[in-house]
Amino acid sequence: MTLKVLGILGSPHPFGGSGQLLRCALEAAQREGAETKLLSVYEGEIKSCQGCIQDEEPNCRFPCIFEDYGRELLIEINQADVLLIGTPVYWYAPSGLLKNLIDRMTCLENMVAYGEPSYMEGKVVGVITVGADAGLTLAGGYLLTVLNAMGAIIPPWAHAYSRQAKGAIFDDRAVMDAINVGLLAVGLAARLKAQQGRISYLDDRNLLEEIRHKILAQKEAFESRYGKTTLSKSGP
Ligand SMILES: Cc1cc2nc3c(=O)[nH]c(=O)nc-3n(C[C@H](O)[C@H](O)[C@H](O)COP(=O)(O)O)c2cc1C
Repeated sequence: MTLKVLGILGSPHPFGGSGQLLRCALEAAQREGAETKLLSVYEGEIKSCQGCIQDEEPNCRFPCIFEDYGRELLIEINQADVLLIGTPVYWYAPSGLLKNLIDRMTCLENMVAYGEPSYMEGKVVGVITVGADAGLTLAGGYLLTVLNAMGAIIPPWAHAYSRQAKGAIFDDRAVMDAINVGLLAVGLAARLKAQQGRISYLDDRNLLEEIRHKILAQKEAFESRYGKTTLSKSGP
């Protein structure tokens, strides 16, 4: 059975540093035979969680009370076997819109209140954080902790990060780590389905260069079509 890998980008820049590394992870996942999809939290409205879990008659259950883009993302997350999240570091944390989505994911986890397992249970996760300064491990560690607390499983080498900001694609260590985030998340998900799957770090210069060139070509094509815009509605 083909594994479904969903990449969620928390950046307003489709090909900024976090977008570049997330695309490397997804490319690696695809090479392992997975079906991949990339969505950005900037492509629509994600209303803030209003904490209805505390109402007299709680209604916090999948797919959430709001009918917005956030709900569409929650449905995509629910259908995925593997969730890879890439985010810029905004003040030592994931971006605000991504945090909105995390809060809204309560409805997936809160299915336990309705006698079902958490809908996050058993999904495999990996994270990528990109910044210019500090807080990379704090933001990535936060995401892994939260996703695990919702029931998700963390593979080895599940966090790639770079301080090279929009030049992250030229950070060899980070690119190889991002590739491994994709490879090992898919590898573990395959093992959980009793299939063959890699769960040890791969250090492969040729693969690194191949994937880097592919992502750079995509970046160039995107920028020649849409320009070097900040917030882009033209694609994740
Ligand atoms: C609001 C804001 C807060 C930021 N805070 C941090 C920070 O705490 N640590 C850091 O390393 N970089 C920080 N940065 C820099 C971004 O993480 C950096 O520009 C990164 O490349 C953005 O990712 P992107 O290229 O994928 O959009 C901040 C940028 C913004 C706009």
